[in-house]
Amino acid sequence: MAVIKANAYGHGMLEIAEASVSAGATWLGVATLDEAIAVRSKLSQNVPILVLGYVAPQYLPLVSQFRITVTGISLEWIQEAAQIAQQPFDFHLKLDTGLNRLGCKTVEEVQAAMKIISQNPNLNWTGVFTHFATSEDMENKTYFYRQLASFDEFLNVIPNRTNKIIHCANSGATLYHPEKPFFNMVRLGKALMGPPNEALKHLLPFQLQTSLSLHSILGLVKQLDAGEKISYGGEYTTTEKQWIGTIPMGYADGWHQQFKANAVLVDGKRVPIVGRISMDQIMVALPQKYPTGTRVTFIGQQGNETIVGDEIARTANQPRSEVFSSLSSRLPRIYMQDGSIISIRNAMLDSINLS
Ligand SMILES: Cc1ncc(COP(=O)(O)O)c(C=O)c1O
Repeated sequence: MAVIKANAYGHGMLEIAEASVSAGATWLGVATLDEAIAVRSKLSQNVPILVLGYVAPQYLPLVSQFRITVTGISLEWIQEAAQIAQQPFDFHLKLDTGLNRLGCKTVEEVQAAMKIISQNPNLNWTGVFTHFATSEDMENKTYFYRQLASFDEFLNVIPNRTNKIIHCANSGATLYHPEKPFFNMVRLGKALMGPPNEALKHLLPFQLQTSLSLHSILGLVKQLDAGEKISYGGEYTTTEKQWIGTIPMGYADGWHQQFKANAVLVDGKRVPIVGRISMDQIMVALPQKYPTGTRVTFIGQQGNETIVGDEIARTANQPRSEVFSSLSSRLPRIYMQDGSIISIRNAMLDSINLS
C-alpha cells in the first residue's frame, strides 16, 4: 500500500498515487474520506483505497458510492455503522496494540465486533490491521515486539481470516525489521519518497533516493548599511555593510518560523536566514551581490552542499514528515523523471485556463 495522505506528505497526492500504482502498489492509503473521494474521482487507475482514519458512519452512503474501504476504529464505531448502513461497504478492522490512537483495545471488544459483523451482511470485513509506535527505534525494540505479539494474540481470536488482508508494517517496520514476514501487505508512506530516516540509512535493504527538493529564487538583492533592521520586529540588525537577498517564499508556503536557524543554499554556499520569516518573504544575508533570479535551495543540493529534510526536522525538533507535509499548496510542484520535467502542478491555477 502506498500511503498518500496529507498530499502524499506534501509531495502531491495524485502524482504520487499515480506513480506508486504504476510502480506496483496495489492499494492506496489516505487519512480522510475527502482524500479518498478526490483520489477515486481523479485517478485514472482503479485501485482499492483505504481510509486509515476516522470516517463518521453517517457518510457510509458515500463510502459505498465511491467504492472506498474504511477503517472500523472501535467497537462503538462498528455498532453505529451496523445501525446506519443501508447498503454493503468494505472495511478493515483496526486493532490497538499500543499506539493508543485508533482500534479495538481488548480481545473482548474484538470478539463483540466480530459478532456484530457476522450478523450484518452490510458490514463487509475485508482486512485487519494495527500500527506501530516505535518501528524506527533500533536501540530498544521491546515495545515494537510487544505490539507485534499483541497483534498475533488478537488475530488468534479472529476466525475466517482466509482471503483477508492482514497488515501492520509502516516504512520503519518494513525496512528495518526485514526478518519479519509482516503478513500480506505493508503500508509505506515515508519510504515512497526516500530513506525514511537519514541516521538509519545504513540499515536499508536497498538504496532509496530522496525525491523532494525545494527551491526558490532571490527576488531582490540590495546592499544595506550597518545598523539597519530587517523584517517584522526588527530582530536582526546589520553589523556592517551587507548584501541582503529577499526570497518570495514564507511561512504560508510551509517554511515556518521554527526553520529560521537553517541555512539555505545560494551559489553552492550555505547562507543564513536573517530577521523573522514573514508570511510571503524570507531574507538572507549574502556573502556578495548576486543577480535577481539566482536559485535558492531550501532542501536539496547545490554543488558540494546538500540540505536534507532530516536536517530541517532536527533543528526544528519536528518529525521530517511534519516538515514535508506542511509544504503548502501555494508552492507549485514540478515532477521530474530521469532529469526531465513530466508535469507541473500549480494548485492555485489548476482550474484556470491561462492560454
Ligand atoms: C495507519 C498508518 N499506516 C501507515 C502509515 C505510513 O507510515 P510511514 O510514513 O512511517 O511509512 C501511517 C502514517 O502515519 C499511518 O497512520
